Amino acid sequence: MTAACVRTAVIPAAGLGTRVLPATKAVPKELLTVVDRPAIQWVVEEAVAAGIDEIVIVTSPHKKTIEDHFAQMTDLESVLEEKGESELLARVRQVNELANVRFVSQASPLGLGHAISMAAPLVGDEPFAVLLPDDLFPDEGRTVRRMIDVAESVGESVVSLTEAVGEEITKYGCAGYSMRDGAVVVVDRLVEKPVFERAPSNLRINGRYVLTPDIFDKLACTEPGRGGEIQITDALALQIGDRGLRGLVVDDVGFDTGSRADWLRANVELSLRGTDGSAVAAMLEAALESNGF
Ligand code: UTP
Repeated sequence: MTAACVRTAVIPAAGLGTRVLPATKAVPKELLTVVDRPAIQWVVEEAVAAGIDEIVIVTSPHKKTIEDHFAQMTDLESVLEEKGESELLARVRQVNELANVRFVSQASPLGLGHAISMAAPLVGDEPFAVLLPDDLFPDEGRTVRRMIDVAESVGESVVSLTEAVGEEITKYGCAGYSMRDGAVVVVDRLVEKPVFERAPSNLRINGRYVLTPDIFDKLACTEPGRGGEIQITDALALQIGDRGLRGLVVDDVGFDTGSRADWLRANVELSLRGTDGSAVAAMLEAALESNGF
């Protein structure tokens, strides 16, 4: 595998988003705003920063607005042009010029693994990245880039891992490992949402993958697992017994915008890091004081 091989990022966005209902009743979870743009735009920008310019978004028939967000809107552009709103116009145009964004449909939410398999015809026989759009890593693509480097040197799929705190591990895919060399582990076991006492480690998968293309064959023979869904974790477990699987342990836990508390944390922290940081800090201080904190 060479660095240039990873040209495509698959972004699965066809799930139901039940954890953040009712916000996601009509608005796709992936379009919930984080500071000034939809969560999925942050993730496309991350992939581009990692050097990837082919994006495949897996959507559902109920989520056409995701396609709208990345399409050119000539009417809107004309209005902005007429009004002389050149800065806004540039920001609107930048969204549809970010990358080559294509879409495939997942008719029913049969699981993350199933969603990824829908992208097979557009990915072809080459390694690719998967970025879950409800996990934000605003790190200029560094995590994905490091994962590509590991995948390139060992020729195996790589999952990004974070150390879970306490019983948090029971909510995620958990990776057991046989060897660790710095931040890289040789994964020897994967368990989706383990019982705390039987979790093979405290390392949880955190929403970034670099996958070798044989994963599509593994997905094709993966039966529905936990929750009746076709799980990517089960297909990755098949790769462990075949060509092997690595994990990259990262310190950055990112933001899980599919959970209400973390969506709020993403907005606060990313606002503080942005150009309005000082104004937001002052606003937070005033809000804390006036509410008796
Ligand atoms: P999640 O399990 O976090 O998303 O999947 P969900 O199912 O939408 O959320 P909840 O648990 O009901 O709140 C991670 C990503 O995978 C996509 C989701 O859209 C999300 O971005 N996904 C999940 C699919 O594309 N298809 C599926 O069948 C399942």
